[in-house]
Amino acid sequence: MDYTKKMLRDDALKGKTIVVTGGGSGLGKAMTTYFLELGANVVITSRNIEKLQTVKTELESQTGGKVLAVQCDVRNYDEVEAMMKASLEAFGTVDVLLNNAAGNFISPTERLSANAFDTIIDIVLKGTKNCTLAFGKYWIKNKETEKVVLNIVTTYAWTGSAYVVPSATAKAGVLAMTRSLAVEWAKYGMRFNAIAPGPFPTKGAWDRLLPGDLKEKFDLAKKVPLKRVGEHQELANLAAYLVSDFSAYVNGEVITIDGGEWLKGAGQMNLLEEVPEEMWDMLEMMIRAKKNK
Ligand code: HXC
Ligand code: NAP
Repeated sequence: MDYTKKMLRDDALKGKTIVVTGGGSGLGKAMTTYFLELGANVVITSRNIEKLQTVKTELESQTGGKVLAVQCDVRNYDEVEAMMKASLEAFGTVDVLLNNAAGNFISPTERLSANAFDTIIDIVLKGTKNCTLAFGKYWIKNKETEKVVLNIVTTYAWTGSAYVVPSATAKAGVLAMTRSLAVEWAKYGMRFNAIAPGPFPTKGAWDRLLPGDLKEKFDLAKKVPLKRVGEHQELANLAAYLVSDFSAYVNGEVITIDGGEWLKGAGQMNLLEEVPEEMWDMLEMMIRAKKNK
């Protein structure tokens, strides 16, 4: 099967302006690329303006679309307001906010300083709050409707996870924000949804979650029932659908795209996957034999 196939028709996002935080790398860049191919204007933001400028040049020539690169640390509300102003000046309106920027690293929680914990909460939860509040208030004040906020969370937003506790805590907050505002701000013409990706290899995530030879030691594909990691285009397809008008009745939803990974970890008897086919006859016999005793 070809997982890199593009899902929507070419003009699916024509006329839309989309802000992608963390749009200069990894999954943010993959989603940006597809949005441009579908006819959207995209504002990419992060802390590193040189990186963003390089990506702007690359993607404009690759797709023929329009990219605005704006430096913005999502932790600072004044920088978020300035980024919004620059986006509005460039494109007149913003239709979609994609909260994708994140910070994360693995660590036993007792080794974290208070500042280390805060750093992750500030990027993920406060950053998403800052962008959502700035754009939400603007749209409400100016009576602009048909707006979409899409948040990137993780499956451990609801299961929790050891060794990434600040990230799990923050993503759980983002999920709660998604569902809360899906109800509260629907009356202003906004939709809120989230995507929970499973393992999609990116440099940013892999260097911090699987440093050194952990990549070889913990092959994440083995944890996935479908026995593979995700392809960036698969995530971009889902994101494009969720920000497009085709999903106009989807609101307050979190869509998991992980090949069944988190459920495999959760189901109590899923470990029976390890039982070889030839052993099942014997096991069945042993179970049936118990009936007569
Ligand atoms: C313990 C650490 C640490 C580590 C940093 N700190 N790294 N503590 N173990 N490995 C501490 C520092 O000592 C400092 O605390 C505090 O954290 C802030 O660190 P800075 O380096 O000053 O912060 P900053 O420059 O703002 O960088 C933020 C960052 C960095 C999160 C630490 O990794 C970053 O820029 N990340 C952005 C990209 C990213 O993380 N992408 C991955 C997303 S993957 P003190 O007390 O010393 O001041 C993802 C996947 C989810 O989310 C699920 C996958 C399945
Ligand atoms: P990534 O490439 O490291 O992306 C993180 C982005 O956030 C970078 O572009 C980074 O750019 C930006 N960023 C970090 N701190 C910021 C700040 N303070 N202000 C503004 N931008 C900031 O990692 P990724 O794998 O693509 O992750 C993208 C999203 O997917 C994240 O929300 C992550 O939690 C989620 N996710 C990923 C996976 C996976 O397997 N890859 C799984 C589940 C969820 P700068 O460094 O230039 O600021």
